[in-house]
Amino acid sequence: LPCLVAAIRCGWANRSRRYAIQVFPSLCAFVCIRNVGIGKAVAETVSEQGFKPKHILVTGGCGFIGANFVRYVARNHPDVHITVLDKLTYAGNPANIDGLPQSQVELVIGDICDASLLERIVPGCDAIVHFAAESHNDNSIFDPEPFIRTNVEGTMRLLEAARKYDVRFHHISTDEVYGDLALDDPARFDENSPYRPSSPYSASKAASDHLVRAWTRTYGLRATISNCSNNYGPYQHVEKFIPRQITSILEGARPKLYGTGENVRDWIHTEDHSSAVWDILTKGRMGETYLIGADGERNNITVLRMILEAMGKDPDDFDWVRDRPGHDRRYAIDSTKLRRELGWEPRHTDFAEGLRQTIDWYVANEAWWRPAKAATEARYAKQGQ
Ligand code: NAD
Ligand code: DAU
Repeated sequence: LPCLVAAIRCGWANRSRRYAIQVFPSLCAFVCIRNVGIGKAVAETVSEQGFKPKHILVTGGCGFIGANFVRYVARNHPDVHITVLDKLTYAGNPANIDGLPQSQVELVIGDICDASLLERIVPGCDAIVHFAAESHNDNSIFDPEPFIRTNVEGTMRLLEAARKYDVRFHHISTDEVYGDLALDDPARFDENSPYRPSSPYSASKAASDHLVRAWTRTYGLRATISNCSNNYGPYQHVEKFIPRQITSILEGARPKLYGTGENVRDWIHTEDHSSAVWDILTKGRMGETYLIGADGERNNITVLRMILEAMGKDPDDFDWVRDRPGHDRRYAIDSTKLRRELGWEPRHTDFAEGLRQTIDWYVANEAWWRPAKAATEARYAKQGQ
């Protein structure tokens, strides 16, 4: 009881509320009702057993990870209505959510920076899951401006709408906000790692994380953040490492490896990212950050040779190309908090098998990737990559 009184005296600040929730589960509903008002009391009381969203707004739901998340929710939670908000940039493709029931999934084509559009679509939702971003490091080095606009300004607009209509917010972020680790360092990133972004892309994502924390602390926004490692799987744009190499091999071109090929990425199947996001959305503690990773560290040359061998090619059949400026050396995630607190586990633990399925997907879906391939390679060629 003294701890609860202390929490109340602290003006219901998030940290105090969190402490109260940990120590006095039976009093949480009362705390939440005071904090958010009677109108949301029922939803918040339910959140004690797990938040049960009925209508979610998924930004960037026509991109790679957003579309896989929409598919995951549509498949596993048919009672949840999904509004996808997507600007359909070069990276967004409405075909990524084709075939889903129209009664469950609707697409709104628009910009997250458009405050008047958000005024129209946010009030009907009980949660926003925010994937929309400019996501490619190489593009951010070439032209940072769209990254600041979408990733920073766009996140701020969504936060303002979520604040105004008291909507639960989950922010999708990246392990890159923590910078990189040395190749021979056994350390991994965790929720306490310092922010040290290297590229314009990762700096813009770091800025967006800080905005979410500020809105949580200052305005009491009900928000969580997840920082995930490198995703692979179906529907990933051909500009990214794994699809670029697979599709180049399929069209008879040689894959391209940056620098020495020693850079390490921590691969996770996108479906495991989706299940983690759903667990955090429905069971995560407000104001908390969770790192998502599946212990999938591999260096780039190893992954490239796995692709070449799986596709029946000589493992040395690739070109070395100019390195990415400021190229992060190694990412590695310690996801203990997510696993211990929320009981999450990845299902795709056999990377070679996941890669084989991904190759099969690109083989079977040439009509999906073909239209973007030539323009992507032309852009790389201009950059000497
Ligand atoms: P993506 O580039 O494939 O898709 C981004 C989507 O956002 C596209 O559909 C695009 O049209 C949409 N979009 C861009 N700007 C928009 C705007 N202003 N308004 C509305 N929609 C807009 O990206 P992805 O790889 O699927 O990444 C999704 C999210 O996950 C991003 O926030 C990214 O930072 C994060 N993330 C990605 C990875 C990864 O390995 N790809 C890992 C960790 C985190
Ligand atoms: O760690 C999470 C991040 O993973 C996400 O936040 C980003 O949105 C996502 O794009 C990804 O960033 P990376 O820069 O790690 O991914 P990318 O696929 O661009 O490159 C993976 C590695 O492969 C990287 O070390 C650069 C290298 N590479 C990339 C390409 C496209 C090559 O060697 N050759 C290539 O042709």
